[in-house]
Amino acid sequence: MRIGLIGCGTVGSSLVALLRDEGDLLADRLGEPIEIARIAVRDPERPREGWIDRSLLTGSWREVVSDPAIELVVELMGDVPEAIDAIRSALAGGKSVVSANKAVLSRHLSELEELAGRAERDIFFEAAVAGGVPLIRALRVSLFGERLSRIVGIVNGTTNFILTRMQEDEVEFEEALSSARKLGYAEADPTSDLDGSDAAAKAAIMASLAFGRKVTAADVRRTGIEGVSAGDFLFAKRNGWTIKLLAVAEHFGAAPDSPLNVEVFPALVPSSHPLAGVRDSFNAVFVEGNAVGELMFFGPGAGGMPTASAVLGDVIEAAHNLRTATRARVVIQEQAHFLTADAILARFSISMEVLDEPGVLARVSEVFGGFGISIARMEQLEVEDGVARLVFLTHRTALDSLERASLELEKLDVVVRLHRSFRVFT
Ligand SMILES: NC(=O)c1ccc[n+]([C@@H]2O[C@H](COP(=O)([O-])OP(=O)(O)OC[C@H]3O[C@@H](n4cnc5c(N)ncnc54)[C@H](OP(=O)(O)O)[C@@H]3O)[C@@H](O)[C@H]2O)c1
Repeated sequence: MRIGLIGCGTVGSSLVALLRDEGDLLADRLGEPIEIARIAVRDPERPREGWIDRSLLTGSWREVVSDPAIELVVELMGDVPEAIDAIRSALAGGKSVVSANKAVLSRHLSELEELAGRAERDIFFEAAVAGGVPLIRALRVSLFGERLSRIVGIVNGTTNFILTRMQEDEVEFEEALSSARKLGYAEADPTSDLDGSDAAAKAAIMASLAFGRKVTAADVRRTGIEGVSAGDFLFAKRNGWTIKLLAVAEHFGAAPDSPLNVEVFPALVPSSHPLAGVRDSFNAVFVEGNAVGELMFFGPGAGGMPTASAVLGDVIEAAHNLRTATRARVVIQEQAHFLTADAILARFSISMEVLDEPGVLARVSEVFGGFGISIARMEQLEVEDGVARLVFLTHRTALDSLERASLELEKLDVVVRLHRSFRVFT
C-alpha cells in the first residue's frame, strides 16, 4: 500500500518513525507492507530528522494528491489554508484520506464526509480530538447504537496544564502560563488554547458524531481561561471543587432533532468527579449514554508519538477498506438546532471586588433580584485597603440572566471589579 504524506512536522515525522519501527508488524496485520511514496512539506530544504528519506520530499502537496500510485493521503499540515484544498483534491481524485486537522474538520466535516461518500473512499480523523485517545472511533462505531445524552471533555492539554499548576502550586495565571511555555506545553502564541477555540473545534467534532447533526466550530459558545485567578481556586478548594476547562455537548429531548447545547467554559468541578483528577496535559472525555451508562476515555491528548499512533490506526483501517472494497459508514447530517442563552440553566459562581462599606450588599442583591437570580450562598474571600472580594453562588438560573446581570453589576459605583463567573458542573 503506497501512501502519501502531506506535512512532516511533529506528528508526520513520528508517523514515519513508527512505520519504520513497526513495519513488519503492520505488514503482518494488513497482509502487505505500507510504503511512504512521497512527502510534501512547506520547505523541502529545511534540516529534518535523520530517518526522513529526503529523496521523498517535495514542496508541492499537489504532487502527492495527483500521484496515481498513491492510494491513501495522510494530511498533517495543520490549520493552513491549503489543507482543505489538499483533502478535497485527494478525495475527488479517488484517494482515501486520514487527517488530524481539528480546525479543518470542525468547519468542513459534513462536506468532507459527503465527498468521501461520493468518491466511495474514507475520511478518518481519530487524531483530531484528544490526540492518542481512541475516542472518535468509539463514537462513530462502538457507541453508534447508544442514545447519548452528554459528552464532557478536557480536550486541551495546554489549558489543563495551566489550571493544574494554578491549583497545585497555588500560583497566578501568568506564572502557570510561563511554566507551560518553558516546558513546551504552550506554543509561542497560545491564543487558540487560552480562548477556548481549540477546545471548541473539538467539541464541534464530538457533538457531530455523538448526535448525528451538523455542528461547526462557529456554533460553539465558548469562554476561555484568561482571567482565572488564584482567588478563584481558593474559593473552589474551600467548597470541594477544582476548576477545569470543559468542552460540553448535550442533547435535550428524545427526538433526534431536539436541540443541542455545545459549549466550552471553565467550570467548578467536584473534586470527587473523575474529570477533576485529570492532571497536567492529559485529556479525558466523559460520555453518558442511556444503555451503557457512564464511560471515561483518558490519555495523552497530544505529542508526536501518541498522535501518530492514532493516525496509524486510521491508515490501517483505510488501507484495509481499500483492499476489500469496503468503506466506513457515512451519515449525511442535517443542521443542528441549539439552545438559546435563556434556556441554558446552571448554577454559577460570580465573584467581584466591592467597597467594604454599608449598603453595598443591598445594591448588589437588587441587581441579582432584578434578573430573577436567586443567591444560594455568599462568601467573603478577603478585605484589603477597604475593598472586599465576594463570591456569590446562585441557584439554577439562565445563562442569559447571569450575563445581563453582570453587565449591570459592572456599572455599579460600589463594584470596583467584576471577576469572571464559573458554571458549577453537575
Ligand atoms: N502536535 C500534536 O501534538 C498534535 C496533536 C493532535 C493533533 N495534531 C494535529 O496534527 C496536525 C499536524 O500537527 P504538527 O504538530 O505535526 O504540525 P507541525 O509540526 O507544525 O508540522 C506541520 C507540517 O506541515 C507542513 N506544511 C505546512 N504548510 C504546508 C504546505 N502548504 N504544503 C506542504 N506542507 C506544509 C510543514 O512543513 P515544514 O516542515 O517544511 O515546515 C510541516 O512539516 C495538525 O492538524 C494538528 O492540529 C497535532
